[in-house]
Amino acid sequence: MLTEKCALIGECKIINFPKVIDYRGNLSFIEENRQLPFKIKRVYYLYDVPAGATRGGHAHKALHQMVIALSGSFEIVVDDGYEKNSFFVNRPHYGVYIPPKIWRELTNFSSNSVALSLVSELYDESDYIRDYDEFKRLAINGWD
Ligand code: TYD
Repeated sequence: MLTEKCALIGECKIINFPKVIDYRGNLSFIEENRQLPFKIKRVYYLYDVPAGATRGGHAHKALHQMVIALSGSFEIVVDDGYEKNSFFVNRPHYGVYIPPKIWRELTNFSSNSVALSLVSELYDESDYIRDYDEFKRLAINGWD
């Protein structure tokens, strides 16, 4: 159990993307199975987030996710049911990878921030765990 716990929260990590610096403006790119440890099936983004709002507040059973601050800044809090970690993101040339079975919350959005998500699955509500107590039970007792 201890090994699984350490492995899970430790898998939430910052991934840096290539950055092509140019006097006309910088360029970054992301390729599935290269910069990302999964194939991208869906892209979505959060914008017009009002001050003080929190997004996320759920875990996924199977979905892998990369979250990038395309504009502005925000905080990504990840939780494997035992341990939490927090990432502050404020540049578009890196992102935070979140594997399945991790509770996530996005908070402290600056004005005009845009949170881009690249994910491994099509939208499927049955992949979500939206109740924190249920998430804790699964984290402790196993997801299978
Ligand atoms: P949700 O995933 O809970 O948002 P977040 O985690 O970013 O706070 O989704 C909010 C609503 O939007 C929910 O009713 C489902 C819907 N939705 C889609 O229809 N398609 C999508 O790709 C996503 C991400 C959400």
